[in-house]
Amino acid sequence: MEQRESGVVERKRRRRKCLLVFGVVLLLLLILALALGLTLGRSSGGIKNTFLERCQKFKDLNCQNVWDAFQQAYIDRDPCSIPGDAYEPFITALSLKLQCNRMMFWSKTKDLVHSFTQKQDCFVTVEDVPLGAILDGLTWCGKEGSKETFTTGCPGWSDCANNPVRSFWNQASAAFADAACGDVSAMLSGSIETPFSPGSVFESIEVRRLRSPKVKRMNVILVMEENAVTNCTNASLENLQKVLNAGISYGCKEVTEAQIHKCSSDPKIACGACW
Ligand SMILES: *[C@@H]1O[C@H](CO)[C@@H](O)[C@H](O)[C@H]1NC(C)=O
Ligand SMILES: *[C@@H]1O[C@H](CO)[C@@H](O)[C@H](O)[C@H]1NC(C)=O
Repeated sequence: MEQRESGVVERKRRRRKCLLVFGVVLLLLLILALALGLTLGRSSGGIKNTFLERCQKFKDLNCQNVWDAFQQAYIDRDPCSIPGDAYEPFITALSLKLQCNRMMFWSKTKDLVHSFTQKQDCFVTVEDVPLGAILDGLTWCGKEGSKETFTTGCPGWSDCANNPVRSFWNQASAAFADAACGDVSAMLSGSIETPFSPGSVFESIEVRRLRSPKVKRMNVILVMEENAVTNCTNASLENLQKVLNAGISYGCKEVTEAQIHKCSSDPKIACGACW
Protein backbone atom coordinates (compact mmCIF):
# COMPACT_ATOMS: atom_id res chain seq x y z
CA MET A 1 0.00 0.00 0.00
CA GLU A 2 2.71 2.43 1.00
CA GLN A 3 4.74 1.29 -1.95
CA ARG A 4 1.88 1.93 -4.39
CA GLU A 5 1.13 5.29 -2.80
CA SER A 6 4.71 6.51 -3.21
CA GLY A 7 4.62 5.13 -6.79
CA VAL A 8 1.61 7.37 -7.59
CA VAL A 9 3.26 10.41 -5.99
CA GLU A 10 6.43 9.70 -7.95
CA ARG A 11 4.49 9.48 -11.23
CA LYS A 12 2.58 12.69 -10.44
CA ARG A 13 5.84 14.47 -9.68
CA ARG A 14 7.40 13.22 -12.92
CA ARG A 15 4.37 14.34 -14.92
CA ARG A 16 4.54 17.82 -13.33
CA LYS A 17 8.25 18.02 -14.15
CA CYS A 18 7.51 16.96 -17.69
CA LEU A 19 4.84 19.65 -18.04
CA LEU A 20 7.20 22.26 -16.63
CA VAL A 21 9.95 21.40 -19.13
CA PHE A 22 7.41 21.39 -21.93
CA GLY A 23 6.14 24.81 -20.82
CA VAL A 24 9.62 26.30 -20.67
CA VAL A 25 10.49 24.96 -24.14
CA LEU A 26 7.22 26.35 -25.49
CA LEU A 27 7.95 29.74 -23.94
CA LEU A 28 11.46 29.81 -25.41
CA LEU A 29 10.12 28.91 -28.85
CA LEU A 30 7.54 31.66 -28.56
CA ILE A 31 10.20 34.24 -27.63
CA LEU A 32 12.40 33.08 -30.50
CA ALA A 33 9.52 33.31 -33.01
CA LEU A 34 8.61 36.75 -31.72
CA ALA A 35 12.18 38.03 -31.99
CA LEU A 36 12.54 36.57 -35.48
CA GLY A 37 9.22 38.07 -36.57
CA LEU A 38 10.24 41.45 -35.21
CA THR A 39 13.60 41.52 -36.98
CA LEU A 40 12.06 40.32 -40.25
CA GLY A 41 9.27 42.83 -39.86
CA ARG A 42 11.73 45.57 -39.11
CA SER A 43 13.95 44.83 -42.11
CA SER A 44 11.11 45.15 -44.61
CA GLY A 45 9.31 47.84 -42.61
CA GLY A 46 12.67 49.63 -42.44
CA ILE A 47 12.89 50.53 -46.10
CA LYS A 48 9.29 51.74 -46.16
CA ASN A 49 9.90 53.94 -43.12
CA THR A 50 13.11 55.34 -44.59
CA PHE A 51 11.37 55.90 -47.92
CA LEU A 52 8.43 57.75 -46.35
CA GLU A 53 10.61 59.80 -44.01
CA ARG A 54 12.81 60.98 -46.88
CA CYS A 55 9.78 61.57 -49.12
CA GLN A 56 8.00 63.69 -46.52
CA LYS A 57 10.89 66.15 -46.45
CA PHE A 58 9.73 67.30 -49.87
CA LYS A 59 6.52 69.30 -50.02
CA ASP A 60 3.65 68.56 -52.41
CA LEU A 61 4.24 64.81 -52.60
CA ASN A 62 1.61 62.23 -51.74
CA CYS A 63 4.15 59.84 -50.28
CA GLN A 64 1.82 56.87 -49.85
CA ASN A 65 0.96 57.06 -53.57
CA VAL A 66 4.65 57.48 -54.40
CA TRP A 67 5.48 54.36 -52.34
CA ASP A 68 2.71 52.36 -54.08
CA ALA A 69 4.00 53.45 -57.52
CA PHE A 70 7.54 52.50 -56.49
CA GLN A 71 6.59 49.06 -55.18
CA GLN A 72 4.65 47.98 -58.22
CA ALA A 73 7.92 48.12 -60.24
CA TYR A 74 9.43 45.07 -58.51
CA ILE A 75 6.90 43.39 -56.17
CA ASP A 76 6.12 39.75 -56.95
CA ARG A 77 8.72 39.75 -59.77
CA ASP A 78 11.92 37.88 -60.46
CA PRO A 79 14.60 40.31 -59.14
CA CYS A 80 16.79 39.70 -62.19
CA SER A 81 14.19 40.74 -64.76
CA ILE A 82 13.12 44.24 -63.77
CA PRO A 83 13.28 46.50 -66.83
CA GLY A 84 14.00 50.21 -66.32
CA ASP A 85 10.61 51.29 -67.59
CA ALA A 86 8.93 49.42 -64.72
CA TYR A 87 9.82 52.55 -62.74
CA GLU A 88 8.00 54.95 -65.08
CA PRO A 89 4.87 55.27 -62.86
CA PHE A 90 7.15 56.05 -59.89
CA ILE A 91 9.17 58.61 -61.88
CA THR A 92 5.95 60.19 -63.16
CA ALA A 93 4.58 60.40 -59.61
CA LEU A 94 7.62 62.47 -58.65
CA SER A 95 7.27 64.90 -61.62
CA LEU A 96 10.83 66.11 -62.22
CA LYS A 97 11.04 69.86 -62.70
CA LEU A 98 13.29 71.42 -65.31
CA GLN A 99 16.34 72.85 -63.60
CA CYS A 100 17.90 75.21 -66.11
CA ASN A 101 21.59 76.02 -65.55
CA ARG A 102 21.59 74.17 -62.22
CA MET A 103 22.02 70.55 -63.14
CA MET A 104 25.13 68.83 -61.93
CA PHE A 105 26.20 65.40 -63.15
CA TRP A 106 29.07 63.51 -61.56
CA SER A 107 31.25 60.47 -62.01
CA LYS A 108 33.61 59.05 -59.37
CA THR A 109 33.20 62.19 -57.22
CA LYS A 110 30.05 61.25 -55.28
CA ASP A 111 31.02 62.37 -51.77
CA LEU A 112 32.70 65.59 -52.86
CA VAL A 113 29.93 66.70 -55.20
CA HIS A 114 27.27 66.11 -52.54
CA SER A 115 29.21 67.90 -49.83
CA PHE A 116 29.17 70.84 -52.26
CA THR A 117 25.56 70.71 -53.54
CA GLN A 118 24.16 70.16 -50.05
CA LYS A 119 25.89 73.20 -48.57
CA GLN A 120 25.57 75.60 -51.51
CA ASP A 121 22.17 76.10 -53.10
CA CYS A 122 23.65 76.43 -56.59
CA PHE A 123 23.57 73.07 -58.26
CA VAL A 124 21.41 69.96 -58.01
CA THR A 125 22.45 66.37 -58.60
CA VAL A 126 19.94 63.57 -59.11
CA GLU A 127 20.45 62.69 -55.43
CA ASP A 128 19.28 66.18 -54.43
CA VAL A 129 15.85 65.86 -56.05
CA PRO A 130 13.15 63.50 -54.67
CA LEU A 131 13.78 60.92 -57.41
CA GLY A 132 17.32 60.19 -56.22
CA ALA A 133 17.18 61.48 -52.64
CA ILE A 134 14.53 58.98 -51.54
CA LEU A 135 16.46 55.90 -52.71
CA ASP A 136 20.10 56.97 -52.40
CA GLY A 137 22.13 54.20 -50.77
CA LEU A 138 19.21 51.78 -50.44
CA THR A 139 18.90 48.20 -51.67
CA TRP A 140 15.59 46.52 -52.41
CA CYS A 141 14.00 43.69 -54.35
CA GLY A 142 10.91 41.54 -54.53
CA LYS A 143 10.41 37.81 -55.07
CA GLU A 144 8.01 35.91 -57.25
CA GLY A 145 5.01 34.81 -55.22
CA SER A 146 5.55 37.37 -52.46
CA LYS A 147 4.03 40.78 -51.79
CA GLU A 148 7.00 41.84 -49.68
CA THR A 149 9.94 44.16 -50.17
CA PHE A 150 13.25 42.55 -49.25
CA THR A 151 16.41 44.43 -48.36
CA THR A 152 18.76 41.47 -47.99
CA GLY A 153 19.49 38.62 -50.37
CA CYS A 154 18.92 40.91 -53.36
CA PRO A 155 21.10 40.62 -56.51
CA GLY A 156 24.09 42.98 -56.46
CA TRP A 157 24.85 45.71 -59.01
CA SER A 158 26.67 43.34 -61.36
CA ASP A 159 25.01 39.99 -60.50
CA CYS A 160 22.48 40.51 -63.28
CA ALA A 161 21.92 43.56 -65.48
CA ASN A 162 18.19 43.93 -64.88
CA ASN A 163 18.24 43.99 -61.08
CA PRO A 164 15.83 46.38 -59.32
CA VAL A 165 18.47 48.82 -58.04
CA ARG A 166 20.54 49.10 -61.20
CA SER A 167 17.51 49.39 -63.48
CA PHE A 168 16.16 52.11 -61.25
CA TRP A 169 19.35 54.22 -61.34
CA ASN A 170 19.67 53.82 -65.10
CA GLN A 171 16.08 54.96 -65.61
CA ALA A 172 16.34 57.77 -63.04
CA SER A 173 19.58 59.07 -64.55
CA ALA A 174 18.02 59.07 -68.02
CA ALA A 175 14.98 60.98 -66.72
CA PHE A 176 17.22 63.46 -64.91
CA ALA A 177 19.28 64.08 -68.06
CA ASP A 178 16.09 64.48 -70.11
CA ALA A 179 15.03 67.27 -67.73
CA ALA A 180 18.29 69.21 -68.24
CA CYS A 181 18.31 72.61 -69.90
CA GLY A 182 20.64 75.55 -70.41
CA ASP A 183 24.18 75.09 -69.14
CA VAL A 184 24.87 71.81 -67.38
CA SER A 185 27.88 70.87 -65.25
CA ALA A 186 29.70 67.64 -64.57
CA MET A 187 32.14 67.03 -61.74
CA LEU A 188 34.68 64.43 -62.83
CA SER A 189 37.78 63.08 -61.12
CA GLY A 190 41.32 63.97 -62.16
CA SER A 191 42.62 61.19 -59.93
CA ILE A 192 41.78 58.38 -62.33
CA GLU A 193 43.34 57.53 -65.70
CA THR A 194 40.11 58.07 -67.61
CA PRO A 195 37.89 60.84 -66.18
CA PHE A 196 35.19 60.25 -68.83
CA SER A 197 34.96 56.69 -67.66
CA PRO A 198 33.55 54.11 -70.13
CA GLY A 199 30.60 52.21 -68.71
CA SER A 200 29.81 54.82 -66.03
CA VAL A 201 26.22 56.06 -65.84
CA PHE A 202 27.48 59.49 -66.89
CA GLU A 203 29.26 58.14 -69.97
CA SER A 204 26.77 55.49 -71.04
CA ILE A 205 23.48 57.26 -70.28
CA GLU A 206 23.47 60.87 -69.15
CA VAL A 207 25.75 62.55 -71.69
CA ARG A 208 23.98 60.78 -74.54
CA ARG A 209 20.52 62.07 -73.52
CA LEU A 210 21.38 65.79 -73.53
CA ARG A 211 19.69 67.52 -76.46
CA SER A 212 20.51 70.75 -78.28
CA PRO A 213 19.09 73.43 -78.35
CA LYS A 214 17.47 72.76 -74.95
CA VAL A 215 20.94 72.14 -73.50
CA LYS A 216 23.44 74.81 -74.53
CA ARG A 217 26.69 73.95 -72.83
CA MET A 218 28.53 71.25 -70.87
CA ASN A 219 30.97 72.54 -68.25
CA VAL A 220 33.32 69.88 -66.93
CA ILE A 221 34.82 70.54 -63.51
CA LEU A 222 37.82 68.27 -63.26
CA VAL A 223 38.71 67.79 -59.60
CA MET A 224 42.44 67.90 -59.02
CA GLU A 225 43.58 66.22 -55.81
CA GLU A 226 47.17 65.87 -54.62
CA ASN A 227 47.30 62.54 -56.43
CA ALA A 228 45.87 63.84 -59.74
CA VAL A 229 47.07 61.79 -62.72
CA THR A 230 45.45 63.64 -65.58
CA ASN A 231 44.08 67.02 -66.72
CA CYS A 232 41.64 68.65 -69.12
CA THR A 233 43.75 67.60 -72.13
CA ASN A 234 43.05 63.90 -71.51
CA ALA A 235 41.83 62.09 -74.61
CA SER A 236 38.76 60.68 -72.86
CA LEU A 237 37.46 64.24 -72.57
CA GLU A 238 37.80 64.59 -76.33
CA ASN A 239 35.56 61.54 -76.56
CA LEU A 240 33.07 63.32 -74.34
CA GLN A 241 32.91 66.21 -76.81
CA LYS A 242 32.37 63.78 -79.68
CA VAL A 243 29.50 62.05 -77.87
CA LEU A 244 27.78 65.36 -77.06
CA ASN A 245 24.87 66.26 -79.30
CA ALA A 246 26.01 68.70 -82.03
CA GLY A 247 25.28 72.27 -80.97
CA ILE A 248 26.14 71.79 -77.30
CA SER A 249 29.31 73.75 -76.53
CA TYR A 250 31.93 72.44 -74.14
CA GLY A 251 34.36 73.68 -71.53
CA CYS A 252 36.67 72.04 -68.98
CA LYS A 253 38.21 73.56 -65.86
CA GLU A 254 40.71 72.02 -63.47
CA VAL A 255 39.68 72.89 -59.91
CA THR A 256 41.50 71.74 -56.78
CA GLU A 257 39.59 69.76 -54.20
CA ALA A 258 40.63 72.35 -51.60
CA GLN A 259 38.98 75.07 -53.65
CA ILE A 260 35.72 73.10 -53.77
CA HIS A 261 35.80 72.59 -50.00
CA LYS A 262 36.41 76.32 -49.61
CA CYS A 263 33.36 77.12 -51.74
CA SER A 264 31.22 74.66 -49.77
CA SER A 265 32.04 76.32 -46.48
CA ASP A 266 31.80 79.95 -47.59
CA PRO A 267 28.20 81.03 -48.30
CA LYS A 268 29.44 84.40 -49.61
CA ILE A 269 30.93 82.83 -52.73
CA ALA A 270 28.31 83.34 -55.43
CA CYS A 271 26.90 80.45 -57.40
CA GLY A 272 29.23 79.58 -60.24
CA ALA A 273 32.01 81.80 -58.89
CA CYS A 274 33.84 78.80 -57.48
CA TRP A 275 35.40 78.06 -60.87
C1 LIG B 1 48.34 67.72 -68.95
O1 LIG B 1 48.84 66.40 -68.89
C2 LIG B 1 49.73 66.08 -69.93
C3 LIG B 1 50.11 64.61 -69.78
O2 LIG B 1 49.05 63.84 -69.40
C4 LIG B 1 50.96 66.99 -69.88
O3 LIG B 1 51.82 66.71 -70.94
C5 LIG B 1 50.51 68.43 -69.91
O4 LIG B 1 51.61 69.29 -69.74
C6 LIG B 1 49.47 68.72 -68.88
N1 LIG B 1 48.97 70.08 -69.07
C7 LIG B 1 48.85 70.96 -68.10
C8 LIG B 1 48.30 72.29 -68.48
O5 LIG B 1 49.11 70.70 -66.94
C1 LIG C 1 43.56 59.75 -70.96
O1 LIG C 1 42.60 59.21 -71.88
C2 LIG C 1 42.96 58.07 -72.58
C3 LIG C 1 41.87 57.65 -73.58
O2 LIG C 1 40.58 57.74 -73.12
C4 LIG C 1 43.42 56.96 -71.66
O3 LIG C 1 43.70 55.77 -72.30
C5 LIG C 1 44.58 57.49 -70.84
O4 LIG C 1 45.13 56.51 -70.04
C6 LIG C 1 44.11 58.69 -70.05
N1 LIG C 1 44.96 59.11 -68.97
C7 LIG C 1 46.20 59.59 -68.99
C8 LIG C 1 46.80 59.93 -67.68
O5 LIG C 1 46.86 59.73 -70.01
